Amino acid sequence: MAQTTRQPGGATALPKGFRGAELGWPQLRRIPHPPRRVPLLGDVLGVRPRTPIQDSMRIGAGLGPIFRRKAFGKEIVFVWGARLAGELADEARFAKHVGLGVANLRPMAGDGLFTAYNHEPNWQLAHDILAPGFSRDAMAGYHPLMLDAAGQLTDRWDAEAAAGRAVDVPGDMTKLTLETIARTGFGHDFGSFERTRPHPFVTAMVGTLSYAQRRNVVPPALAPVLLRGAERRNAADMAYLNRTVDEVVAARRAADASGAHGDLLDRMLEVAHPETGERLSAENIRRQVITFLVAGHETTSGALSFALHYLARDPGVLARARDEVDQVWGDAAPPAYEQVAKLRYVRRVLDESLRLWPTAPAFSREARDDTVLGGVHPMRRGAWAVVLAALLHRDPEVWGERPEEFDPDRFAPAAVRSRPAHVFKPFGTGARACIGRQFALHEATLVLALLLRRYDLRPEPDYRLRVGERLTLMPRGLRLRLTRRGVPGPSDGYARGA
Ligand code: HEM
Repeated sequence: MAQTTRQPGGATALPKGFRGAELGWPQLRRIPHPPRRVPLLGDVLGVRPRTPIQDSMRIGAGLGPIFRRKAFGKEIVFVWGARLAGELADEARFAKHVGLGVANLRPMAGDGLFTAYNHEPNWQLAHDILAPGFSRDAMAGYHPLMLDAAGQLTDRWDAEAAAGRAVDVPGDMTKLTLETIARTGFGHDFGSFERTRPHPFVTAMVGTLSYAQRRNVVPPALAPVLLRGAERRNAADMAYLNRTVDEVVAARRAADASGAHGDLLDRMLEVAHPETGERLSAENIRRQVITFLVAGHETTSGALSFALHYLARDPGVLARARDEVDQVWGDAAPPAYEQVAKLRYVRRVLDESLRLWPTAPAFSREARDDTVLGGVHPMRRGAWAVVLAALLHRDPEVWGERPEEFDPDRFAPAAVRSRPAHVFKPFGTGARACIGRQFALHEATLVLALLLRRYDLRPEPDYRLRVGERLTLMPRGLRLRLTRRGVPGPSDGYARGA
């Protein structure tokens, strides 16, 4: 099952691949599991394979801050209590674990930044080369391109509003965020807004993510039989993603060898490591482009969609957020880069949406050395646990008796200061936390504010939030009705791109 690998320097790396908790947690029996365990099969009664995260949230809320689930011989430990999750965030004792869904993405994303094992040399190399692509200066450079993509969204929404049609929120947010990362990072235009259906890149990506999620719940021995059709489709999806990425890279190489764009793709192709002079290989660049195109849009799209859902159904929150936009931006046509970070309340709306539905809802941590979690659970070196951020964000000890309630003031500065560290983790933790955090927050705050300034948002009367899962979370079937606010016209603050 588990193999131990040698690192380039000769040190022994942690074992990789799937390791059941039986091997790493000598006192596993102290950790509760669902009561009705079926011999051989495990905790399969009442399981809904398409919503594994919400299943775990339901089960975990009943079992307590640390629990385990077993399916087809795989035993997995989950942690959601704030105190234990805080320990797992200690970088001296724990590191990212590439397991479950993340490991299932390796055939697509290989040793790209998100899926790289900690010991793989390409992680540090790519991290050091790409991190400056998320500096303040770099972000200010992306801002006009973000406005352009948002302008395409509002053109579409203006037409839908004028026609009295409800808009498909997750569908359109996905178009927007794909265009944004593709143009800012890679100078590529997918033309998503010229299409009625999702771009085939998105369809292939959703296929691959859903397949990776299914691999978690199907026993490996049965996968060749149960997933035969799905495997074929997944191979076709991956081939499509690779082809698309190769075209994007080839177009850049053909267009210009001068490196004048200064975007992520230029950094990948042109920049050498500042100390070692080493460069990313062609194969690794392919992995990084796929990684950034996928990681750079799917989760932000979900975050925007959840935030719009909560705004539309809470008139008080919506009015307060809009007042802030009107006050801070006034009629200024395209808001400047610096004006986005001033929208403190809009940002709180976003944070609160990510609290309830962190769109990357879980991440895993492994012990760097033998240790004892919470003083009672011994873990061997390499043993790992899933941090269920979606439930950590509902721990009543931290978030109060009504954690389900949407209340952006939980993120007012005094409230944030009163909470312990590591209780809000939508972007993961430590050295392997999200490199695109500032990018996502800038983009999402900007877009929410543009939409608040331009439209009245109304929910569809019968809509009840349903959350779809494909490793990431997304509201299903969310549609909103819109009316243009203010006086339309090219010279006022409500015009295109404003
Ligand atoms: C709201 C939006 C986003 C959320 C919720 C999110 C969440 C996360 C989380 C939880 C991780 C850590 C995963 C783990 O520990 O296994 C992560 C890593 C990562 N994210 Fe994001 N992300 C978002 C947006 C972005 C954007 C916009 C980009 C790129 C432009 C991006 C690129 C990455 C990359 C490359 C990593 C791997 C970093 C590393 O291991 O060095 N993400 N993200």
